[in-house]
Amino acid sequence: MHFMTLARQADDPILAMGAAFSADARTRKLDLGIGVYRDEYGRTPVMRAVKEAEDRLLRGQPTKSYLGVEGDREFLAALEPVVLGDERSDHALASIQTVGGTGALRLAADLLALEKPDRTVWFGAPSWSNHGALFAAAGLAVRTYRYLDPLSQQIDEVAFGEALEAAREGDVFVLHGCCHNPTGVDASAAQWRSIGRALARRNLLPLVDFAYHGLGQGLEADRAGLRILLEGVPSALVAYSCSKNFALYRERAGALFVVGQRPGVELAASNLTALARANYSMPPDHGAAVVRTILHSDELSAMWSAELDAMRGRVRRLRALLAGEGRIGPVDLGRLATQHGFFSSLELAPADVARLREDHGVYVVPSGRINIAGLREEQVRPFAAALRAVLA
Ligand code: LMR
Repeated sequence: MHFMTLARQADDPILAMGAAFSADARTRKLDLGIGVYRDEYGRTPVMRAVKEAEDRLLRGQPTKSYLGVEGDREFLAALEPVVLGDERSDHALASIQTVGGTGALRLAADLLALEKPDRTVWFGAPSWSNHGALFAAAGLAVRTYRYLDPLSQQIDEVAFGEALEAAREGDVFVLHGCCHNPTGVDASAAQWRSIGRALARRNLLPLVDFAYHGLGQGLEADRAGLRILLEGVPSALVAYSCSKNFALYRERAGALFVVGQRPGVELAASNLTALARANYSMPPDHGAAVVRTILHSDELSAMWSAELDAMRGRVRRLRALLAGEGRIGPVDLGRLATQHGFFSSLELAPADVARLREDHGVYVVPSGRINIAGLREEQVRPFAAALRAVLA
């Protein structure tokens, strides 16, 4: 018998919750789990700009022949100023299209492990629940430090400073570009500046996970932290996802950018190509082709950014409505108005999470993370009422 020595793996907490929600027969239920945007009708629509780009691709695409290991170079060239801004820095740059943002992180992890197998990857906890598994799967050691000070609900700069001092030269720090997952608490401009200085001083490498661009405060404001960071560090990796801001989730459109100096950047690019070839050979075409078609057209770009603005506006409105519900037991919803993006973390014990689900059909991730973009405005009050019933 084969495979008998394998241990059974725990379900992914986010994906398992989605399956449990679908299996729940109740009609009054609320899914605040996986990070997917829903509109006021509870749908996750295909963006109009995407539909239009798909129409154009359907009519005009001349071939389905292979694109190459790096994927769609025109997609990468069009995406670069969106991600990094128009002004060029002195850095050299390389990029590769990836299988979504997760694929970008994993390819980065494989590169990091190849270059220096004994390095450690550090990130603030809590973080996206897949971060730990992803870097461990690439064979890298993972260590965490406390991301938030629970009292102030601000970034715990002391814990970050201690992690910096404990790290060894060449270690990697995973930073969230914007819309921190799961807390919604982002670094200020001053904090980005001092993070960059500290990383450079200790010769540590930032890996920026940039998955919610445009969904916090806007495209420009959301990349401001990354730009400040890049001013202060010699090198960085940026894992970018088009899943949320182009609502292309299942198409797996993403990219990995290597920012640094020659010839290191070229060596990184050559190794990324070899790693991708030995793994999945080439990324899927369609999502990237859609993004490229949108970004190449002024008309479609304007349509896309207006749709993105509307999505962000809805999330911000929901945040304001939730904040209006004030404090409920240990949970201060008021602070949600100053946080950004789809997620915030509520102080919910496992028993609270279970009661929300069992008694009220409200599904939140076991850590207490809620996906605000999954709410409709009319659901804010019932959600707060369920919280009150559980926490009061
Ligand atoms: C999330 O955090 O919910 C999203 O990034 C989706 C996922 O793959 O977990």
